[in-house]
Amino acid sequence: MKILVLTSGGDAPGMNMVLYLLQRRFIGRIYACRAGFKGLVNNDIITLSAFKPHRHMFEAGSAIKSSRYPQFNTKEGFEKALENARRFDCLIILGGNGSYKGALQLAENGIKTVFIPSTIDNDVEISEYSQGFLTAVSACCDYIDSVMPTMEAFDRCCIFETMGRKCGKIASEVFNIKKSDYLVQEETDIDYDKIAEIVRKKNGRGEASSIILRENIVKIDDFIKNLGEKCPKVEIKGCVIGYLQRGTKPTKVELDYAKQFAKGAINAVFSDAGCSAIVYRNKKFETIESLKREQPSKKKILMPKRKKEKKNN
Ligand code: F6P
Repeated sequence: MKILVLTSGGDAPGMNMVLYLLQRRFIGRIYACRAGFKGLVNNDIITLSAFKPHRHMFEAGSAIKSSRYPQFNTKEGFEKALENARRFDCLIILGGNGSYKGALQLAENGIKTVFIPSTIDNDVEISEYSQGFLTAVSACCDYIDSVMPTMEAFDRCCIFETMGRKCGKIASEVFNIKKSDYLVQEETDIDYDKIAEIVRKKNGRGEASSIILRENIVKIDDFIKNLGEKCPKVEIKGCVIGYLQRGTKPTKVELDYAKQFAKGAINAVFSDAGCSAIVYRNKKFETIESLKREQPSKKKILMPKRKKEKKNN
């Protein structure tokens, strides 16, 4: 049996623990695509052990590298990916929604795939939890804890920008944990008059205030400028939390979850399903075995279907 693994999209804390556990279970039989679907399309595939996953198991990032590679979704790119994937009995894919779509498309074309939701954004539709989210939230909270004392010393207002792409889950979780003063997780949340009133009140009481802003809604500098016009007496600072959300070492719980995801994936390798996804629902890990797209995405798969070829190896 020959297994192939890849990590795609934004790397997520926990990925390396999964890679290490896969390596340990499938020693001598597991290979990795360098840099996700890019490696699959370009046949940049070597043994997983060559990436020394044991050296990275407690680290964030991805030992086998990741990429965003739209060429995978072209006819030419997809055909090359299929050709290379056919040399393996199973392809394990760690990534977000786009990667799951890729896993389904490959499975529709005869490749057995196993998917592990892995993105700090926690926006994978089929799972309530995706790898990396807890660590990203924890990193944001630690960051805020280290910044607020200095804000307090000057009664300042601080805007903290979190990642999340188009999803407000990191922002809202951080807001709840840190009990911040205002949350902007969607464009409709922006009400400068309302926010300014909160900021002014706290400043008047000799207190600092904190606002959590999800990225990709408004430029943080514009936000500060607009808010500043409504409360000119308060000093407003901006902190983009940035890549430490992805680069922070996985938390203990994250590592435990990684073990569960890996366990599910290892079992799924031996199942008959065309595409299996290891998901977290109702506080437990389970495996969805399907070739069909799960709700709510019902888009037709555009990739050409090809007959499954006889494997030579
Ligand atoms: O999807 C993970 C994520 O970190 C998003 O939160 C963010 O918008 C994006 O990736 C940043 O991507 P990159 O740094 O790879 O360009």
